[in-house]
Amino acid sequence: MPKLSIRDLELAHKRVLIRVDFNVPLKDGVISDDTRIRETLPTIEYALRHKAKVILCSHLGRPKGKPVESMSLRPLVARLRLLIEQVLNLSENVAFSPDCVGNIATEMSRQLESGQTLLLENLRFHPEEEANDPKFAKQLAALCDVYVNDAFGSAHRAHASTEGITHFVSQSAAGLLMEKELNFLGKVLTEPDRPFVAIIGGSKISGKIDVIDNLLDKADTLLIGGGMAYTFLNALGQSTGTSLIEADKTDVAAAALAKAKAKGVKLLLPVDHILADKFAANAKTQIFSGDGPFPAELMALDIGPATIDLFAGEIADARTILWNGPMGVFELVPFAHGTNAIAEFVAANVDATSIVGGGDSVAAVHQAGVADKITHISTGGGASLEFLEGKTLPGVAALTDK
Ligand code: 3PG
Repeated sequence: MPKLSIRDLELAHKRVLIRVDFNVPLKDGVISDDTRIRETLPTIEYALRHKAKVILCSHLGRPKGKPVESMSLRPLVARLRLLIEQVLNLSENVAFSPDCVGNIATEMSRQLESGQTLLLENLRFHPEEEANDPKFAKQLAALCDVYVNDAFGSAHRAHASTEGITHFVSQSAAGLLMEKELNFLGKVLTEPDRPFVAIIGGSKISGKIDVIDNLLDKADTLLIGGGMAYTFLNALGQSTGTSLIEADKTDVAAAALAKAKAKGVKLLLPVDHILADKFAANAKTQIFSGDGPFPAELMALDIGPATIDLFAGEIADARTILWNGPMGVFELVPFAHGTNAIAEFVAANVDATSIVGGGDSVAAVHQAGVADKITHISTGGGASLEFLEGKTLPGVAALTDK
């Protein structure tokens, strides 16, 4: 990586501010999924074992620039303490500062001893964070000697804690999670082992057209499922009943199909579908195959068995697999089968490097119990999509060059 890594830094007895992405699902103070905290542990461990004074900062939710009790990071302290004890085997008391800047944060950061951890309150309780306000960035920078960004999930945001701060510290380095994400996703875009099969799903083309466009320059095969497939089928002239389509995006779909043809990329669309009479778990369903018109009153909510077989064949031959987005209405049990099946086939190809990103596909690999067989599960939603679009992430660009 052309950027400085935490491994390049002198950490002993220094105050190290680590920007993490602890934007975890939290309800009534209960964390339902602590993956993002766990994934940061290697960086925290590295810093603690190198006798750093560790200061962690993060956003949580979108509190719109003011303190919101339900988005406080305070409930994360106990979990962090537990993970540091149980996973890292370090006996450590995590302190909490009720503000991320100001007198209390400054005083607490000064009193921190080597090998201790301080978690700061939600950065987004201050509007200056998202505004990337230089004064606020400078206040954050004043808390530390060196800065580490391990928040890959927020690297697409040019905020004070991800971008602005780098102008006020002498060294800005990537944390170990940041490095891992950039290495895996970077390899996919630059030197994937081939065949490289990308599976793209989700309801709309509009959020992913730039990813599809970029992948058409890199992948050997593109498998398209989910709601967006119906805009593609429309572009090919198939009428798709009441299925969700983006009528104003059929030209975009047609352009992607034309690009695939011109570049010799195999772009496969569903060949059969689970049709339903309504968008509900108790809908009446039927399998529909072929390229004729769907029954006018029915909508497709999942890929059918022949499509699963078709996609499974491509996945089995791949040496690199990238998957982002569900194959159907995954949140409704009768329409989760396609997504779950893809999760199992991706996991079954142990010879391939498999990379999964995006909330629903990540949930599917967990639900199918195969998460441990996936080479890399990205912690970034929007960040991984922007990376796969080929965009420069401001939080990465701002780090110190090696
Ligand atoms: C995410 O969950 O994708 C990141 O934490 C970024 O959150 P944001 O979309 O609110 O900036």
